[in-house]
Amino acid sequence: MTFKQDRLENEKNDPFEGSSLKFVNVPIVLIALFIGFGATYLALRTNNTSMTPGDSRTTSSGSIIDSNSDSAPVAAGDLQSLMEKGKQVFTTTCQACHQATGAGIPGAFPPLAESEWVNGSPERVIAIVLHGLQGEINVKGQKFQGVMPSFKDQLKPEDIAAVATYIRNSFGNQSDLVPLDLVNKVKEHTKDRTTSWGGEAELKAQKWE
Ligand code: HEC
Repeated sequence: MTFKQDRLENEKNDPFEGSSLKFVNVPIVLIALFIGFGATYLALRTNNTSMTPGDSRTTSSGSIIDSNSDSAPVAAGDLQSLMEKGKQVFTTTCQACHQATGAGIPGAFPPLAESEWVNGSPERVIAIVLHGLQGEINVKGQKFQGVMPSFKDQLKPEDIAAVATYIRNSFGNQSDLVPLDLVNKVKEHTKDRTTSWGGEAELKAQKWE
């Protein structure tokens, strides 16, 4: 109680209380200016900004297309739309095992980043996604012996072309895009297959025509 009283007394005796009154307009004017500026800024910005969720980056049109322009005689728009679609397919279908970074999980799921399989024959990448893989495979010097399911009934050929293109041009990889007609070719070529690839040895024994 005594403390409270002390404080009240102190406040009453505050020597600045009287004199500060005549400056009261300055902070109010400043605050009003700030609020006005903020509101104007927001109003102008909001007009130009799409309100879709997520960050506003798009697939880089510059670097990827430039680096492939020598080897891939395909319109730039094709690559960009394949990459966008491929990212969606990857996120929903592959990422749970191979991870968003493409690094996989040591001992369980092999990496796609800098994988010799991902960056090798495009037919083989298609074949793996179509039929799955179950057997011994070495990726970047690490041995894996896991189970990857088949996606031929789940993904359309367009999705496979897109996701194959995406993994070959993400995570630091830079390889040719995978066109739809190549997916259709491999699908036709392996249409009688009902089991997963048995591992590295069987994949290497394939002749892709
Ligand atoms: C259920 C987990 C799982 C999912 C989902 C999955 N994979 Fe795999 N993937 C594996 C495993 C496990 C292996 C290694 C199989 C083995 O050891 O025989 C593998 C191997 C691979 C390989 C060859 C090895 C390498 O790392 O380069 C590629 C390429 C590949 N997967 C791509 C994909 C793509 C593309 C998708 C999505 C369409 C996908 N995977 C979805 C588990 C998965």
